[in-house]
Order: sequence, then C-alpha cells, then structure tokens
Amino acid sequence: MTTYITTPIYYVNSTPHIGHAYTTIIADTYSRFRRLCGDEVRFQTGTDEHGEKIVQAAEKEGIGPREYAERISAAFRDTWPLLDIAPDHFIRTTNPEHIKVVQDILQKVYDQGDIYFSSYSGHYCKGCERFLTEKELVDGKCPDHLTVPDEVSEQNYFFRMSKYQDWLINHIKDNPDYITPERYRNEVLSFLSEPLEDLCISRPCSRLTWGIPLPFDKNFVTYVWFDALINYLTGIGYPDGADFTKYWSVAEHVVAKDILKPHAIYWPTMIQAAGLPPYQKLHVHGYWNVDETKMSKSIGNVIRPGDLVEEYGSDTVRYFLLREMSFGRDASFSKEAIFERRNADLANDIGNLFSRALTMLAKYADAKVPQLDEASITEEDRVLIAAIDKMLAEYTACMNGFEFHRALQSVWEVIGMLNRFIVTNAPWELAKDAANAGRLRTVLYFLAESLRILALVLRPMMPTAANKMAAALGLTEELDKAVLPEAGRWGGIQPGTALHVGEALFPRMEKKAASPAAPEKPKPQAKAEKKVEPAAQEEDGLISFDYFGKVELRVAEIVAAEKIAKAEKLLKLTVRAPEERTLVAGIAKHYSPEELIGRKVIIVANLKPAKLMGIASQGMVLAAKEKDADSNERLVLSAVAADIAVGSRVA
Ligand code: ME8
Ligand code: MG
Repeated sequence: MTTYITTPIYYVNSTPHIGHAYTTIIADTYSRFRRLCGDEVRFQTGTDEHGEKIVQAAEKEGIGPREYAERISAAFRDTWPLLDIAPDHFIRTTNPEHIKVVQDILQKVYDQGDIYFSSYSGHYCKGCERFLTEKELVDGKCPDHLTVPDEVSEQNYFFRMSKYQDWLINHIKDNPDYITPERYRNEVLSFLSEPLEDLCISRPCSRLTWGIPLPFDKNFVTYVWFDALINYLTGIGYPDGADFTKYWSVAEHVVAKDILKPHAIYWPTMIQAAGLPPYQKLHVHGYWNVDETKMSKSIGNVIRPGDLVEEYGSDTVRYFLLREMSFGRDASFSKEAIFERRNADLANDIGNLFSRALTMLAKYADAKVPQLDEASITEEDRVLIAAIDKMLAEYTACMNGFEFHRALQSVWEVIGMLNRFIVTNAPWELAKDAANAGRLRTVLYFLAESLRILALVLRPMMPTAANKMAAALGLTEELDKAVLPEAGRWGGIQPGTALHVGEALFPRMEKKAASPAAPEKPKPQAKAEKKVEPAAQEEDGLISFDYFGKVELRVAEIVAAEKIAKAEKLLKLTVRAPEERTLVAGIAKHYSPEELIGRKVIIVANLKPAKLMGIASQGMVLAAKEKDADSNERLVLSAVAADIAVGSRVA
C-alpha cells in the first residue's frame, strides 16, 4: 500500500510556533506509523511564499519579499529536524516547477470555460487572504483576525466554483471519511446548503506583483490560494511524474480549522475542474491556545518549538502535543502541563519501567534475554499477553483514525500494568531462592519482550526514545525492519540477545521555580508562636493529643529512587504526597532503588527540611528496625494495608 500525507504550506510571514509544529508532528507520526505498517510513504510539507501579507511583512523588515521569504522558509526547514520531523519533500511556491504547474492548470481551466472575467466588490481580509461573505463578518470584522476587511471593488477573473457545488455535496455525503472529525464535515455541509459563489482568483498587478502571473492575462497575478493549494500536486510531479501516478489517489491532507474552507470547498472543486480524481481525506484539527488564550505575537505568548526542544528534548515535546490534544478539538499549552507530563508519564511511568527492567535483567540474567520457563507461566502472565494484543489492536485503529491521544492512552495502560507486574512478581525476592530460578527467568523474559513491543509502537511518536530502547535491547536492526501486525506478535525477542544498559530514557526534571513542596524560610512570627506549643513530653513519658496532632503523617508513593554518591547508607527518594518532594532515607543497605518504585509508605510530612549530602530532605519515611542475635540490622518500610490515595492523612 501507499500513503501520501501533507501539511499546509505555511506562510512565510512569521517563524514557526507550536501550532505549525503540531500539524507537522502529526503528519510525521502518521507517516512513520504507515511505514511501520509496511506502506511506501510520501510526506510533504513546505512554505507558501506569495501574497499580500508576505509583502507587508517584508516591508516591515525593510527588505524585498524574495529575500524575506528565503529567510523564513529556511527557519521552517531548520526547525523540523530539531523535532525529529523528516519530510520526504519540502515544497516552496517560489519554485519554478511549481509556478509552471499553477500556470498550466489555470490555462486548462480557462480553456474549458471555467474561468471568466467580471467585476466584483467585497470584503477582503488580508489575514485570511480571501474575500469574506457578509455572513462571516462579526460586527463588521473578520472573526479570526479581529480586523476590518478592505472594501475591494475591481475587475477580476473568477473560477466557476458554483458549477461544482452539487458534485461536492454528493461526494461528501457518499464518503463519510472524506472530511473528519465529523463536526467539520457537518460544518462544510451546512455551508454548502446555501448557494456557492464563484471564486475570485486574481489580483491586478497594480495592487500586487508578488504572485504568479496569469498565463492568459499578464496584467494579473493569481490569487494566493489558487497558487498554494496546487502545491499538493506539484510536489509529487504532476502531471506525469512517477510519484504523481503512485501517490495522488491516496492523498490525505492535515490542516487546522482556520483553513477548512479553502481545503474542503475551493480545493475539491479546483481538482474536479482540473479533471483529476478527488483527494482521499481531509483531517482537521483544532487550535493550540496558550494558558487558555489565543497565541499571538502582540500578546507575546508565542511558543517556539526550538526553545521547548532545548528544555525538554524532542520526544517530550512530541509526546506532549500528541497526548494533550484530542484531534479535532482545541487544547491549551502551559509550561506546568508539559512539565507535569514529562515527570509523570515519561520519567515515572515509562522511564522507571525501562530502567528497572533493564537493571534487573542486568543483575539477575547477566544482561541477556533469558530463556523463559514454560512451566512457570501464570494466569497473570496470560492476562498481560492478552492486554498487549488488545493494546496493539486499539493502537492501530486509533493511529489510522487520527486519534493519537487515545493510541497513547492504550499504550500507557500497558505501561501501568507492567509497573504493577514488577511489584507483584518482585524479581528481587525471587532471586533470593534458587528454587524460583525458572519463575525469575520467565518474569524477566516478559519484561524484555514487553519493552520490545513498547519500543515498536512508540517509534512513530517518539523516534529518539524508541531508538534508545531498541539499542538497549540489542534490537536496532530488527526494529528497522519490523512490520505490523507481525512484529507485534508476542515472543519476538530471542533468548540470548545481549542487552546494553545505558542512560535513562527520561531523567526526572527539577522545577526551576520554587515548588510548593520546597522548604519555606521560617517566618519571623514563628518564634513568637513557640511559647504556645504544648510541652514536648509530660513527666510520665506520655504526650498529649495536641502534641501528637502536630505531627503530620501522610501516605506517599515512591516515584523515583537513586543511590547517592559517597553515601552507602542513603537513597534519594522522590515521593508524591500528593505534591512531589525529595526525601533522603537511610535505607540503601536494605532496599535497592528498583524495588522501591510504586510502593506506598508513610512519611512525616511536616518535618523541618534538613540537608543531607547536599540534598534537601523534605520529610522522613517511617520504617521498622530490628536486630537479630548476631546484631545484624533488619529494616522494613512502613506501608498501608490497602490501596489508598497518596496524600491521605495518617492519624
Ligand atoms: O494558512 N493551533 O498558512 P499559515 C494549531 N499558507 N495549529 C495551528 C495554529 C494553532 N494555534 N496556528 C497555526 C496558511 N497552525 C496557508 C496554508 S495550504 C495550501 C496554505 C497550523 O502559516 C495549522 O496547521 O497561516 C494551520 O492550519 C496552519 O498552521 C496555518 O498556517
Ligand atoms: Mg494563518
């Protein structure tokens, strides 16, 4: 099979922000996914360089439009590799081949009588680069750009769009997947329920010269949308290139709702007039807002993808955008939200799973995939295999249906199961008794094989992280050749495969600003309050209710644990109670970091922060201690008898 996926070609009037990044990441993820399914794929993006708003932006910089377009187009091309976006072709509308194709199509449509000359007056919005109808205006303004359109009255060329209205209505009705999600299909059908006007497709050279001259009248340049939309044909070698034959009939376009009308109405009718089969699908998504408000240069809240990549790395940015927006609806970007997802979903969930599993494979299986012991397979293991199969089916359906957030959700359900699988099977306990050697090998095999499948399904979304996983599992070549669904079948990883335990996938990030759990400076009044504090201890050795009530005990979940250099007794723990905090605990001789993650313990939450080995410890973990006859110390962590929400008060 073949896949042809495109993004809009972006105007070169300003540099890329996360809105452009989102659409392009979607197209990149989809193209990687279809390749994983064995397709031949063509992924195209590019820049739209003609039109009035480019001329204006260039004038502001005091340079010509060509030089300006050159500069901004390069900024787009330079941004995509930072995000691991790898288009097969980058098209520019200033490219001579493109100009020729636009002129050829204009001539063809003109010759068959679908372009005519007439006079017109209307409301032209430069931001949209199109005439708005009376009905579209809100208080006389463009609702998207909040500007009053120019009243333009001139003689121009028109495309007989109205002639194709009935065909378009029928085509959309007969093909429920032509425009998705459904709300946008309905929006287009409702717009088409009124008579369609013909489309003005020229601007007189007296007003605008930065465009493609009409082949049949040198006094006019073509309208920017007629020029821009045709990029989807030029980029694959219309009319007779091999890629055109191969890819046109499967074309899928991704756009945001701002340009629904040009893509759902102008473009299909233009294609029809050019005598070509329609594109296959239009996928429409919503807007990224920033902290609930529209991203805009004047508000100064524009988020640059390059800055985010510098702070978080490309995988986190891709994951966040794909996970946070439900395709079709609007979503809000905030620094807090990306930070939270980084630490919760990536560092805690998949990062911990990966590092614990590999550490244990190194420790208990000599850094090789062990041979499993059939006889020791349990019901829980079979449930896990079934859950992975179900995830693969859901994942595939969601990826094909552009429901990327749901595809990720189903993968994360399996990640949660695997983290629980480690806790319930406790390989560190199995390792203590040679009688459990078979079961230990089975548990470790299951972890290695599950990681292989995770690396496979996460590759389209997070290529760098997935490649790191593959390298650690010794599967770099296998994964390059892997094809779904075969590669997703359980049992693919070969016993004996050498593992390479390396760096963490997603190191935890520390908050830059003061976090709520950060130690507070003692307030000046604190001393004065001291005298009302009840006496520490009565003479009989008992404490009062009030006194005990001052000790804040809470249930906390350990989400990260690591050794501290030069302190063999200490571990640095990150716990949620429910806010995250760091604790230093003297338990390193009794617990290894990988067996602590996911445990719920009881902590003293209001202990004065203290620095140990340069780390501020914000509380204390409760544990019980005993000494055996040889004075060997044993230490057992506190726990709650049943599952209860983190942060619950213990009293
Ligand atoms: O319209 N949220 O170019 P453009 C989500 N040149 N996506 C956003 C976004 C946001 N806040 N802001 C921009 C044009 N986008 C024409 C297209 S195609 C033949 C010609 C993304 O630079 C989204 O994909 O204004 C949107 O459709 C596109 O950028 C608009 O880019
Ligand atoms: Mg725009």
